[in-house]
Amino acid sequence: MARNAQLPLSLSALRILAVLLLLLHPLRRVSGAGGHDYRDALRKSILFFEGQRSGKLPPDQRLRWRRDSALRDGATAGVDLTGGYYDAGDNIKFGFPMAFTATMLSWSIIDFGRSMGPEVRNAVKAVRWATDYLLKATAIPGVVFVQVGDPLSDHNCWERPEDMDTLRTAYKIDGAHPGSDVAGETAAALAAASIVFRSRDPAYSRMLLNRAVRVFQFADRYRGAYSNSLHRAVCPFYCDVNGYQDELLWGAAWLHKASRRRQYREYIVRNEVVLRAGDTINEFGWDNKHAGINVLVSKEVLMGRAEYFESFKQNADGFICSILPGISHPQVQYSPGGLIFKAGGSNMQHVTSLSFLLLAYSNYLSHANKVVPCGETTATPALLKRLAKRQVDYILGDNPLGMSYMVGYGARYPQRIHHRASSLPSVGAHPAHIGCKAGSRYFLSPNPNPNVLVGAVVGGPNVTDAFPDSRPYFQESEPTTYINAPLVGLLGFFSAHY
Ligand SMILES: *[C@@H]1O[C@H](CO)[C@@H](O)[C@H](O)[C@H]1NC(C)=O
Repeated sequence: MARNAQLPLSLSALRILAVLLLLLHPLRRVSGAGGHDYRDALRKSILFFEGQRSGKLPPDQRLRWRRDSALRDGATAGVDLTGGYYDAGDNIKFGFPMAFTATMLSWSIIDFGRSMGPEVRNAVKAVRWATDYLLKATAIPGVVFVQVGDPLSDHNCWERPEDMDTLRTAYKIDGAHPGSDVAGETAAALAAASIVFRSRDPAYSRMLLNRAVRVFQFADRYRGAYSNSLHRAVCPFYCDVNGYQDELLWGAAWLHKASRRRQYREYIVRNEVVLRAGDTINEFGWDNKHAGINVLVSKEVLMGRAEYFESFKQNADGFICSILPGISHPQVQYSPGGLIFKAGGSNMQHVTSLSFLLLAYSNYLSHANKVVPCGETTATPALLKRLAKRQVDYILGDNPLGMSYMVGYGARYPQRIHHRASSLPSVGAHPAHIGCKAGSRYFLSPNPNPNVLVGAVVGGPNVTDAFPDSRPYFQESEPTTYINAPLVGLLGFFSAHY
């Protein structure tokens, strides 16, 4: 009886509960999609760069399991080339992707630094770790050191950076062995960083800009692809497949933004067709700058300052339309789980760099009160932000495997990343030298990596959203600096706006 007496009450309680659930359901979905701790992810995405540091580590190094490494880099060439970043899970300093990383970290801070709160200081330090090195690499006029470390010797070993005994050959380009690609990107990085430091450290900023001017002159005057000059050293690792023309435009675009000098504007307008600004408009990464050039230059058009750049805006609009889901385009696919997918391995680099452009362009459009018409659809700034956020949320765990692709973020993340320093015991835990081939047993071990490379975003799942979490699958399990660099900007924005 007592139970019966309670029945009406229970029923109405159930009814209230049902109504509450109905009310809460959309809220829950919104918070499920927006429930990430972007501030935590931002902090981690920047911390990752400390794990990639080469050279003498500073007292404020937070990632303590790494130690000094490669302290004689450059010695064989009679120069100091210590410092800088290892590009990925190996111990080579590849100048081309390192410069691109510095450019994208700088762009992240220029556009989204004011949303980063106290983390902006760490982001600026991450830029400086690269630009201090790029200044050393460009110290001699007419020469750019573009790589330290023999990649075949390095890739033949599974060794901690702190133990390295592989060949640390210093490779350079000069007038007789040109490399307008890597030099153009280096000029872009120095120019972009000069904007980051303009008010933070004016003297350093001026030094960066002056160097950018000189390196760009060299890049433009001695034209050629560095993969022709240094084929054995840079191919197939960071072989310039796409040509050097885009880096010349890209370098000029950053120099124009940093210096506002007319000569760069004129260079861009004069060379737009020759250097093929309208090619492959939906590619953007360490090798191909096209979509980035068009988005960067279009900002001027959208600010109403530069109608002579109008064609760049048409290219940027074309890029935006080509990337919308549901519009089938041969160069941009989406996985069933909703991830942007491009062929060629290390897919997350495309995800973060293309998403960065969506977000940056969305802001430029907002300020100009504009939209992009794409046939039947209209790409509004809000739509572009949603698309970029969807990609970031996928990375952080909203995906079919429920897996975060950022190490150390969320409940499940990659445990066996393809990364020498992370997968071998730290120097603190195992001070004795571990030789070239002695590392193999750690590479082949099924155990999780002993050192958590916090913030590292790996190459990510394949086109069916599957992920092996296995060291030998480097295309899926290797992190790179140029996956994280644009993500720093994306997370900066979302940490302040959601
Ligand atoms: C994706 O990865 C899964 C698991 O590793 C594998 O079974 C599948 O064949 C892969 N798909 C493609 C298209 O590579």
